[in-house]
Amino acid sequence: MQIKKAHALHGEINIPGDKSISHRAIMFGSLSNGTTEITNFLEGADCLSTISCFQEMGIKIEQKKNCVLVHGKGLHGLKEPQHILDAGNSGTTTRLISGILAGNPFVSQLDGDNSLRTRPMKRIMEPLRLMQADIESLKDNNCVPLKITGHELHAIDYTSKVASAQVKSCILLAGLYADGITSVTEPVLSRNHTELMLRSFGAKVTSEGTTASIAPDPVLNGQKVEVPGDISSAAYFIAAALLTPGSEVLIRNVGVNPTRDGILKVAKAMGGSIERLNPRTASGEPVCDLLVKGSSLHGTVVEGELIPTLIDEIPVIAVMAAFAEGITIIRDAAELKVKETDRILTVTENLKLLGCDVTPTDDGMIIHGGKTLHSAAIDAGLDHRIAMSFAIAALNIDGGIELEHSEIAEVSYPDFYKDLEKLSM
Ligand code: S3P
Repeated sequence: MQIKKAHALHGEINIPGDKSISHRAIMFGSLSNGTTEITNFLEGADCLSTISCFQEMGIKIEQKKNCVLVHGKGLHGLKEPQHILDAGNSGTTTRLISGILAGNPFVSQLDGDNSLRTRPMKRIMEPLRLMQADIESLKDNNCVPLKITGHELHAIDYTSKVASAQVKSCILLAGLYADGITSVTEPVLSRNHTELMLRSFGAKVTSEGTTASIAPDPVLNGQKVEVPGDISSAAYFIAAALLTPGSEVLIRNVGVNPTRDGILKVAKAMGGSIERLNPRTASGEPVCDLLVKGSSLHGTVVEGELIPTLIDEIPVIAVMAAFAEGITIIRDAAELKVKETDRILTVTENLKLLGCDVTPTDDGMIIHGGKTLHSAAIDAGLDHRIAMSFAIAALNIDGGIELEHSEIAEVSYPDFYKDLEKLSM
């Protein structure tokens, strides 16, 4: 797909539902008694993979025009899948569902696409095995395909080496089926949607600092869930509006949970003009509208506790940094290497193709911004965030870019190119 240079961006958009929250609403709804009604559900490929996994385990899930209905069967109501559970491109589906499968009394297998097949599962296999779970990597490489033979689990206090909401959530979900209180402590707090939403479904979840704990065998009841817009999707239009002079864009309905809003802090530190309007909550999550204006940006340092709050936005932050004056340093972000691609590599290699002065490091990158970039062909491969980040870069490049495998954006934002065109007109 050819993405052309744009002049100023103007108008308003509604951001589609949050991917992390949409996955969790399907999962927790499936484990609840009664019906869960989800509005603003993200119909991206990843969340559809979660739906199909739970349908395969006997849960009736209806995709209506304005909502998704999950007819839950309670904590012990899943049935043994007859086919391999296909998580597609989705790490979240795989890691969270593994915690659930480990505690259910049947045998299941999980697999996915060629990107998922390279992503590390040892980070969940280790704690699950400490809980006495029976989980094996069928190719003996600590990746999917996984085979899980479920049964009652042993409660643990686990200290995780990585700040990962997927690891934390996997352990907490396994804790639903354990013989006591299960706790997870992370080095830095990761997104806390699991803790917030499981509590609203009736689980006994407590959080203190970077430790989350859960009591076993609660009665979960179906809820109404209004999914906030995904700040990780909003990030592309935040960057696009900041980077194109004269732009003014109103981005409606953006989830601004403090464990996710690092992009706003970084954009501000770079000199970006973003106003938070109309603050409110949706299903216990803070939400607002964002008014973003074209700004002249300068470099910054992105590091430390901020990293988990913007881990998925680093590709587009790197694009912003490439056009900003001065040096941007991104560090403490080695987790980038285990996303849908090794994003230290895919971000820096693709920026170099556009003529950017960028150096990869072990845990991030150093970007010397402000050089005029030139047109090139960029291959997004199996990484939705690389596709959308480089589509934003194209808006500021004479001749635009040729974006190969642009369709991978459908993993998290099926209407991305339509929304981009709408704002660019
Ligand atoms: C997610 C957590 C993050 C994020 C991913 C979604 C989640 O991964 O990168 O896109 O929904 O829990 P980690 O927490 O493993 O870093």
